[in-house]
Amino acid sequence: MSNIVWHSHHIDKAARAAQKGHQPALLWFTGLSGSGKSTLAGALEAALVARGIHTYLLDGDNVRHGLCSDLGFTPSDRQENLRRIGEVAKLMVDAGLVVLAAFVSPYRAERQAIRERFAEGEFIEVFVDVPLAECEARDPKGLYQKARAGEIKHFTGIDDPYEAPESAEVHLHNHGVDINTGVEQLLAQLQARGLLP
Ligand code: PPS
Repeated sequence: MSNIVWHSHHIDKAARAAQKGHQPALLWFTGLSGSGKSTLAGALEAALVARGIHTYLLDGDNVRHGLCSDLGFTPSDRQENLRRIGEVAKLMVDAGLVVLAAFVSPYRAERQAIRERFAEGEFIEVFVDVPLAECEARDPKGLYQKARAGEIKHFTGIDDPYEAPESAEVHLHNHGVDINTGVEQLLAQLQARGLLP
């Protein structure tokens, strides 16, 4: 980048964290469509807010209504979708928030690229693990049915790959369990990492 110089301001991330009384972080929920990423992230967000934590939930479907409304689901569009989300999340973490991001984010390389934008311990990958057959049986938006019928192309798990995390900080098996179980597991992880006041 030429002729652009980073400007450090007086109030920094540490000052904002001190004001809020908790550390910022990015919780990155990845998993197949229908695995329950948004539902889990929403329930965790409510639990965090009840504990006085300043949060923001970035959700795939919602972000694609605005910031990323020009993008589809080709590999390069997903890459750009996640690059933008990563940068927005970075600004929010810099603002001192605990950010919850719920995106299919099917490619390892893109998740790794986002991880590398954050300080050690700030990026927490949460693998919402539900077998494809179960997600397809749930099919809350009828999208799997359309993908099987060939009406949607590049559908993750059908004709586009999902590269499961190999060493996510949190691996949640989200089928046959109560949502509170997942929320408690996540809260315990955050507690263990010193992210809860
Ligand atoms: S990605 O891969 O991270 O850029 O995807 P994301 O922004 O999270 O958007 C996923 C939601 O869009 C719907 N949808 C699709 N998902 C996967 N593949 C294809 N081709 C597709 N087309 C539409 C789907 O409802 C996803 O929402 P969730 O909440 O995950 O079910």
